[in-house]
Amino acid sequence: MAGYYSVMKSEERPAIRPVKTEEWSNPMLIDPIAWRCPMSPTEVVDEVISLFRERGNRLYRESLTESQHGLQCATLARFNGEQDAVVAACLLHDFGRLLKQAADECPDNAAHHEEIGANRLSRHFKPEVVEPIRLHVAAMRYLCWKDRKYYEELPATTRHRLTQRGGPMSDREARAFESHPHCGSALRLLRYDEMGRNKGLCTPDFEAFRPVLEALVDKAKARADEPELAIA
Ligand SMILES: [Fe+2]
Repeated sequence: MAGYYSVMKSEERPAIRPVKTEEWSNPMLIDPIAWRCPMSPTEVVDEVISLFRERGNRLYRESLTESQHGLQCATLARFNGEQDAVVAACLLHDFGRLLKQAADECPDNAAHHEEIGANRLSRHFKPEVVEPIRLHVAAMRYLCWKDRKYYEELPATTRHRLTQRGGPMSDREARAFESHPHCGSALRLLRYDEMGRNKGLCTPDFEAFRPVLEALVDKAKARADEPELAIA
């Protein structure tokens, strides 16, 4: 690696080191590093899968873990012929819940899980993956506005949680939601979110989704685009 770095004094050279697994979930640590040590698609997916393996065993519902729920949603989406971005969004839609598990790693712990997850994933994934994740709770509020019967048939606990999030959308909110380019994907994600709560549904492992995830990493943010190193 001759060239630019070789003429710098050692104390001026940037201290480049790999991003550790535990730093993935610590924005205070990862932000200053990310711009000078961007991750390849394989490394990004390694980190995502590692976090599910470390924290995804917490129960999402009775007898169903967070990991199983994500895998079921993605499997159902793939089985129904959804585009890869929707399959990936289904797999990762509750990623923010994993980040919220450790309060000290999540400075804005008052934020909602869909925002936390989408913000973190937006560092690496394309908007067609990230934005449906950000919108999947809004999609439920929209459906409650659009279909009164859907709202009334929600379980009482879900209706209560939704009330805390604003309840059914207003007409103005609903129009704004409908104009969002990713509203259709968010509504489909919500459908699989509601279907993927089946104790008996067997799914493939996370590794089965690796090719889909790697292809959806935004390569503009990945190491493949590092012209400075190629020149040096
Ligand atoms: Fe979910």
